[in-house]
Amino acid sequence: MATSTLDVEAPSHDTFPINGTDYIEFYVGNAKQASVFYRAAFGFQFVAYRGPETGCRDRASYLLQQDKIRFVFTTAIRPELSDDAARISAHVQTHGDGVRDIALWVDDTRDAFEKAVERGAEPVQVPTVLQDDDGEIVIASFKIYGETVHSLVERKNYRGLFMPGFRAVQPHFAPPDVGLRYVDHCVGNVELGRMNHWVDFYAHVMGFRNLLTFDDKTISTEYSSLMSKVMANGNDRIKFPINEPAQGKRKSQIDEYLDAYKGPGVQHMALATDDIIRTVTILRDRGVEFLSVPTTYYEELQGRLGKIDEDVESLARLGILVDRDPDGYLLQIFTKPVQDRPTVFYEIIQRKGAKSFGAGNFKALFEAIEREQGLRGNL
Ligand code: FE2
Repeated sequence: MATSTLDVEAPSHDTFPINGTDYIEFYVGNAKQASVFYRAAFGFQFVAYRGPETGCRDRASYLLQQDKIRFVFTTAIRPELSDDAARISAHVQTHGDGVRDIALWVDDTRDAFEKAVERGAEPVQVPTVLQDDDGEIVIASFKIYGETVHSLVERKNYRGLFMPGFRAVQPHFAPPDVGLRYVDHCVGNVELGRMNHWVDFYAHVMGFRNLLTFDDKTISTEYSSLMSKVMANGNDRIKFPINEPAQGKRKSQIDEYLDAYKGPGVQHMALATDDIIRTVTILRDRGVEFLSVPTTYYEELQGRLGKIDEDVESLARLGILVDRDPDGYLLQIFTKPVQDRPTVFYEIIQRKGAKSFGAGNFKALFEAIEREQGLRGNL
């Protein structure tokens, strides 16, 4: 099993408390169609909408939810009408469909924003109050890597469904959920030499600690390699691994992403389930494509990992990977990119005690990614 470095320094002291991921907002070329894909394939429920019908003429947003996971898909309708819509349109033109905002749920947006900016965060939106009959939300945002931002969302004085401006919907098309429960971690890809910059950013601005470090010897295959550091907040609900490419014989998977996304951005989001065999079975049936690993991966599985609760045959049939750490084990699987550019993909993860990220699977996994990269002519 590959090794990783557990940080032994002092625990983090959050600059401001974060309760969890509030929502993840994607800027996409066609939010209406994205909303159908995420309902049909991933089992999200379409719960609220903002667009011309609700008085927002320049753009449309679809709020999709599954347990604690909230995704917002936003598209520009009339880029000429506002700076916001023009920015959304330009973002899609440059990056394709991608993540704009990893929004964080905080107790006090004004206080959090002031502290973050004081420590070096670059403001995008100053604290702004959004009101309707259900109360108020206070929202602000600052930049992270590339064109990605963190919004800070304070909702203690809001009783509504999501946010002023959104209207609840009850769509006829509502396929059942697939058992996805919460966002486990969000991974960013940054340029060669920039990983430590963003590690320092999360340490100094947010008070996060370096939970794990993977060097290029840990994460390398014959052809390409990468380096990664995982930053986490005090309650461990927020985990942000940051990857940068490392020198290999061929182009790193991170370089392929940076070329396709035209810069740094969110590479994958890991969504947690309590029953990965059931979740992945349904996802596959609904058209989600996963990376596959050679059947030899499963031959030595029990020898390597000891006893696990799951039936190895089912894991092998679905291509689910397993890894162990001192606290327990985890099961994980990765989708192929969910748009034509080889950029954003998903990880489905079930933790059974393990707090790590599956370093023992990196080799098998990256070889699978490289096979796909080769098929795209990008290796
Ligand atoms: Fe991951």
